[in-house]
Amino acid sequence: MAVIAFSGASGGPGATTTALAALLTWPLRDGRRVVLAECDPDGGSIAAGYLESRVMGDMGLHHLQVADRRGHLERDFWPQLINLSEPGAEDRVLLPGLIDPAQAAGLHQTWPRLGAFFAERLQHPEPHRPAYDVLIDLGRSGATGAANALARSADITAVVVRRTLRSTHAAKPRVQALRAMLEMHGREATRLGLIVIDEGPYSARDIAEKLELPVFAELPFDPKAAQVLTHGGDGGRGFGKSQLLRAAAVMSDKLQGLAVQEQQRLHAPALRPLTALDRLRGGTR
Ligand SMILES: Nc1ncnc2c1ncn2[C@@H]1O[C@H](COP(=O)(O)OP(=O)(O)OP(=O)(O)O)[C@@H](O)[C@H]1O
Ligand SMILES: [Mg+2]
Repeated sequence: MAVIAFSGASGGPGATTTALAALLTWPLRDGRRVVLAECDPDGGSIAAGYLESRVMGDMGLHHLQVADRRGHLERDFWPQLINLSEPGAEDRVLLPGLIDPAQAAGLHQTWPRLGAFFAERLQHPEPHRPAYDVLIDLGRSGATGAANALARSADITAVVVRRTLRSTHAAKPRVQALRAMLEMHGREATRLGLIVIDEGPYSARDIAEKLELPVFAELPFDPKAAQVLTHGGDGGRGFGKSQLLRAAAVMSDKLQGLAVQEQQRLHAPALRPLTALDRLRGGTR
């Protein structure tokens, strides 16, 4: 049970690459599946990049605005998905992002409903239908605009950042906006953390101190493997075993664990103070 949002910032720290690496390495337990929803208001890039426009058809997020207005968000969601699984499987799927950033304006009211759909319906489907963990690419502006409703319904949000001053600087207003949004909705900012890409002169700890956030995971700077995720190509036999994908598998495991912990924390019964009667009974509530 996990909904994870990834936020980028200007300068392209690697949010989409990281989210796609998470999709390809996500641990699938108990028959669950995983979907990556490319919700970057500035437009999606995986269909034209990693998939090199090889998938025919006009699937994607842009259809969901009209679908939502007609009350068919759920029905029309499924035909938009592209299967990125190993042959014969259907467990890793992609909702391709917007083709044109101008389409984002029309999604203003759809973002919160899409967030609720991810956090509720896909987690608790009808009997005999698989449940989906959800990865959301918020892009560089998703953290600060209307699309941050998606981060509100995510279990955790990871801000992707490099170990440079420029990247930290660009991430700062996103972190502040996400923190403010969570606090405004009575959610604790414990749900926020960093994914640090190992490029730059500073340490991950420096970046964490500067942004006052924990480091959820670190990923190596691996241009060769990143290039495949960004622009396609098969990457040869080394791709699956690349440093980036191996570290992404560790990251995915960690993120899934953190999301589950967050849900348990939210649903744990609140402890009330001991009453005099409880004390007489030997200290039980
Ligand atoms: N771990 C990595 N190691 C090396 N290069 C990387 C890594 N992650 C991403 N890159 C490279 O950085 C560039 C930007 O990556 P990406 O498109 O994922 O960034 P983004 O944050 O999604 O940017 P945008 O705001 O444009 O959507 C790409 O060329 C990609 O290959
Ligand atoms: Mg991107």
